[in-house]
Amino acid sequence: HSVAVIGAPFSQGQKRKGVEYGPAAVREAGLMKRLSNLGKWLDDFGLLSYSPTFNIFSFMMFAKQRASITVFVPCSLAIGTISGHARHCPDLCVIWVDAHADINTPLTTSSGNLHGQPVSFLLRELQDKVPQLPGFSWIKPCISSPSIVYIGLRDVDPPEHFILKNYDIQYFSMRDIDRLGIQKVMEQTFDLLIGKRQRPIHLSFDIDAFDPTLAPATGTPVAGGLTYREGMYITEEIHNTGLLSALDLVEVNPQLAASEEEAKATASLAVDVIASSFGQTREGGHIVYDQLP
Ligand code: ARG
Ligand code: MN
Ligand code: MN
Repeated sequence: HSVAVIGAPFSQGQKRKGVEYGPAAVREAGLMKRLSNLGKWLDDFGLLSYSPTFNIFSFMMFAKQRASITVFVPCSLAIGTISGHARHCPDLCVIWVDAHADINTPLTTSSGNLHGQPVSFLLRELQDKVPQLPGFSWIKPCISSPSIVYIGLRDVDPPEHFILKNYDIQYFSMRDIDRLGIQKVMEQTFDLLIGKRQRPIHLSFDIDAFDPTLAPATGTPVAGGLTYREGMYITEEIHNTGLLSALDLVEVNPQLAASEEEAKATASLAVDVIASSFGQTREGGHIVYDQLP
């Protein structure tokens, strides 16, 4: 089983600089070694030198022929990763772990930041609400609203809330996690997405889903986020489905950390999320042991 790893240092889509250093920081925190310790074949694409959305889209299509994929990018590039992934796996479903819904349209956004809008470009049901923008005509909406589930929401703009409710989009906010517990949340997530048939899963994991005490180095931190244990439970369960097909790890911004330690802690948390999604477990494992010496 092989994993392609792609870093896309890119900072457009929002105004705060530094998110382009995220991919390098995650690599420096030991990502490749952790994945190879899990017995993965690595297909290392390094850091792309030119990585706007369309490029990442083409790249995904290419890399997807060979492997499961992990990409670390700013949030706006999810338009490219999910479109590219869907070109190969039209039946995919999306688990979007984030403090934010990122489902503003270009007409509802109050910040103007593309990183708050990627999902609106991808959903078929929203297309009559998304105007044609120059340079974006290649984007073909590729997911239907029952094929996405959000986990971890706690900062949703009024128009986004309108969209979630009126288009019947399923989500588990932090309040729902408090109410149900993370175990029920994952069970219900899988019932909704893969209960009837097996489908490839695209996991989009925004590091700001975690509590800012754990992931301070990010552009739009919001209090009251996931604990470390909830995060690991989410990714362990996703791994256990055997259906994870691509993972985006987004919004690590080492430049927004107050200290070197904060930057390192955030990057190393990102490595834990990726490793856990690809099979590292808290109970341990023994892939190299056939018998005891
Ligand atoms: N909802 C806000 C906006 O539209 C915040 C989005 C934050 N998104 C992110 N990828 N960090 O701008
Ligand atoms: Mn996001
Ligand atoms: Mn976010």
